[in-house]
Amino acid sequence: MAISLHLVPMTEQHHDQVWAIEQQAHAYPWSESLIRQTPSKIGFNRVWVEQGNVLGYFYGQQVAGEATLLNVAVAPEQQGKGIGRQLVEAFMAEAAQLGGEEGWLEVRESNERAYRLYEALGFNEIDRRDGYYPTKNGREAALVMTCFLADNPFA
Ligand SMILES: CC(C)(COP(=O)(O)OP(=O)(O)OC[C@H]1O[C@@H](n2cnc3c(N)ncnc32)[C@H](O)[C@@H]1OP(=O)(O)O)[C@@H](O)C(=O)NCCC(=O)NCCS
Repeated sequence: MAISLHLVPMTEQHHDQVWAIEQQAHAYPWSESLIRQTPSKIGFNRVWVEQGNVLGYFYGQQVAGEATLLNVAVAPEQQGKGIGRQLVEAFMAEAAQLGGEEGWLEVRESNERAYRLYEALGFNEIDRRDGYYPTKNGREAALVMTCFLADNPFA
């Protein structure tokens, strides 16, 4: 895929907006320090920016051919417009460009919307970690998904 002009590397100047979205989009957000962490050499974090406003982002990392989507979110009022799909496609495309062979991620079992999106982009569920995530009433499973990046039409 062609990577959108709206997509740019995440830098410190984006962190305030990313942190605001993180708290709105996720029931269990990352900590602020994790959001503001300087990426390591294996990290590639991107933001979706329109007219100076961050509308969404992803945090990715790549080790030895395995690219992991650590976090992806779109501002609640901007969801349903295709930005999330383009963010995940961009993660896959950049991972492939960096030499990644497989994409990996974990998703809450209850997060059907994200699950369907990943499935539509070629991810398959290959493992399940029962009781992995906290919920209001207890805990829920993490579903582990993976896809091959080579020959993937979305990467
Ligand atoms: C998951 C998320 C990133 C998707 O981003 P988005 O911009 O809303 O997604 P898109 O608009 O690209 O839509 C993706 C798919 O979901 C579907 N979708 C969009 N809005 C929807 C809605 N209100 N209800 C159900 N499905 C919907 C779309 O049909 C689309 O499928 P398609 O490409 O086949 O048409 C976003 O909902 C989000 O930030 N959620 C909170 C954080 C989160 O759960 N992150 C993932 C953690 S694993």
